Amino acid sequence: MNQDHESLENLLSENRHFLPSSEFVMQANAQHGEYAYANMDRLAFWDNQACDLKWERKWDTVLEWNSPYAKWFVGGKLNASVNALDRHVDEGRGDRVAFHFEGEPGDTKTITYSQLLTEVKKTANALIELGISAGDRVAIYMPMIPEAAIAMLACARIGAPHSVVFGGFSADALLSRIQDADAKLVITSDGGFRKGSAFALKPAVDEALKGQHNVEKVLVVARTHQETAWTDRDIWWHEIVDRQSPDHVAESFDAEHPLFILYTSGTTAKPKGIFHTTGGYLTQVAYTHKVVFDIKPETDVYWCTADVGWITGHSYVVYGPLMNGATQVMYEGTPDTPHKGRIFEIIAKYGVTILYTAPTLIRTWMKWGDEFPQAHNLESLRLLGSVGEPINPEAWMWYREIIGGNRCPIVDTWWQTETGAIMISPLPGITVTKPGSAMRPIPGISAKVVDDSATPVADGHGGYLILDQPWPSMLRGIWGEDARYKETYWSRFEGIYFAGDGAKLDDEGAIWLLGRVDDVMNISGHRISTTEVESALVSHEAVAEAAVVGATDAMTGQGIVAFVILRAGIAHADGEELNTQLRNHVAKEIGAIAKPRQILIVNELPKTRSGKIMRRLLKDVAEDRVVGDATTLADPNVMKKIAEGLNSAKDED
Ligand code: PRX
Repeated sequence: MNQDHESLENLLSENRHFLPSSEFVMQANAQHGEYAYANMDRLAFWDNQACDLKWERKWDTVLEWNSPYAKWFVGGKLNASVNALDRHVDEGRGDRVAFHFEGEPGDTKTITYSQLLTEVKKTANALIELGISAGDRVAIYMPMIPEAAIAMLACARIGAPHSVVFGGFSADALLSRIQDADAKLVITSDGGFRKGSAFALKPAVDEALKGQHNVEKVLVVARTHQETAWTDRDIWWHEIVDRQSPDHVAESFDAEHPLFILYTSGTTAKPKGIFHTTGGYLTQVAYTHKVVFDIKPETDVYWCTADVGWITGHSYVVYGPLMNGATQVMYEGTPDTPHKGRIFEIIAKYGVTILYTAPTLIRTWMKWGDEFPQAHNLESLRLLGSVGEPINPEAWMWYREIIGGNRCPIVDTWWQTETGAIMISPLPGITVTKPGSAMRPIPGISAKVVDDSATPVADGHGGYLILDQPWPSMLRGIWGEDARYKETYWSRFEGIYFAGDGAKLDDEGAIWLLGRVDDVMNISGHRISTTEVESALVSHEAVAEAAVVGATDAMTGQGIVAFVILRAGIAHADGEELNTQLRNHVAKEIGAIAKPRQILIVNELPKTRSGKIMRRLLKDVAEDRVVGDATTLADPNVMKKIAEGLNSAKDED
């Protein structure tokens, strides 16, 4: 590493500040003093948060830390499903709506807490009848329907760790996850509805189970009622669950009992089975859901648009909101079916007050145009959240103005599958936010930006984002791969957790996420983050979305190549002129060093199924190489479309 240079340059500066309104401040769940309270004694703080859960046996010790192995709330016993459901029903909240389910074809279902509890108990009894007991792993491969949450909670209820595999993954991906976790049961559905038609899921399970495995039974929800091939191993959900007793007394499990395994896709290597346990995970998930989203369970309608196949769906659709007794919207389908205003229509229909979504969707809405949100009444919204990628300042501003009517605080939440819960985020009634910054660690969490030698950088500088203290919802390991756990997360800096993100501190000490350090570009010895150049591009009025990569350059080591999607209504025609404008705009916003060598206007960008841009593939295009492994792409055709677009642009030249 070159010690003369910054680990990561700090180029973009942002002076806009947004204060929450005094009405919001007054009613906020987290009040001033929350940080000081946590700083006084971190462990006492988490001890206190854990007391909000229902425990059968209280813990003896808050934390046992033998780096890199943590045990939280040692000796405590509890049940995750009791915390999410029984508690509310026992305390008289059974009639509250847990889910307003909206199917893509327009079918709806309202499920109260007591109905959800009954379904979970019956499903738990069905799992027991199928021979599942505490410790057995269950793979769940489902569309976004209530039974997905019911299946997860039923597994949790009997202590069987679930491994949810995103319903968009292939049979191969499913098989490798079934094998790795050695699952005994698969829960799936005949199919689901997406983009206006029924897709099949069960055939992928059948295909996967042609491989080596120890799966004994496949439990199948009838969602689409399409023709479905059948074997002796298969059982219809309604045939076994409906006839079960609605009584089930839940056993409590150790605080460190495994709750779930969730595989991170891993674009190159074998997926990592990130595994989480019970007490610490639930504590941090419930706390963050309460203070970051300011949830008022009696009045709010909360909607997190994530699929249960991702960690966001685990922590902020299933466990967090249910533990806090929230009323939620769950939507099965895609945002543009049957029209591009579907999400806004649903917000208006249910009076959604809190919306939690991803920058990829926000930028897609920007691309489609303002008329779609503007056609619906979004005045019920009072808080907006973002997760999954850095949110460009202009996308943040658009979210604030067009979706939030300049009224709603925005919480940009940084965390990972591995962290289990939110780690860095504004607290909406306290923090003065800046567009594009996740601001600072939440109370009880220690995150720092350090240089190559693990020394914290001063304000105004960039480096590696690390976590130097254990936290309750941290991963407890990679399933069955201990050496890989140490190597992946704990070896870059001795005894410190580092999982690959670059960040900077601005002049006021606010944290700005700068993307993965593997994506950092080296231009004439300056280490420049993709995020800052992309944000500079998105701040131009013609641009909805941008992805940049560093391509080998004889002069400068690497040169910046930008792929840009234009906003609705901007013509591609004056390509040359627009290119010059955009290059100059970047130079003006962040400096000549970051001026893209080349700008390519495209209609699509390659993204993973969770919406993250795959810059590696764009780099192949920029360097004129054969495009590498694209199996994790959401749309397998997108690289072809980009290449075709570029070739036809070349032909026109
Ligand atoms: O690079 C960071 C990015 O997403 C990564 C974690 O991805 P995953 O495990 O799929 O979890 C996503 C949902 C929590 C991080 O290492 N990331 C996530 N949130 C943000 C973010 N980057 C910038 N800002 C965020 N708010």
